[in-house]
Amino acid sequence: MYVCVCNAVTERHVYQAVKQGAKTVKHLKEQLNVGTECGRCVSCAKACIKEAHAEQRQEFAKKLIQIAPVQLGAA
Ligand code: FES
Repeated sequence: MYVCVCNAVTERHVYQAVKQGAKTVKHLKEQLNVGTECGRCVSCAKACIKEAHAEQRQEFAKKLIQIAPVQLGAA
């Protein structure tokens, strides 16, 4: 799905930018030009960043569990 139609930026682009460290719409503006034309995409871009961060946290938690499995009942 397109996040920013003016600059042909999709959710995939935003997720990739978040993986590379983007944390705010300002970062997306700098990296992908999101919101630099009509500006209608800014709220959608914020929501997309939030989703990408949530997904990233879930992936991180899964990796942590794989790296250090919890041994229940071990004392
Ligand atoms: S839709 Fe993003 S600047 Fe217009």
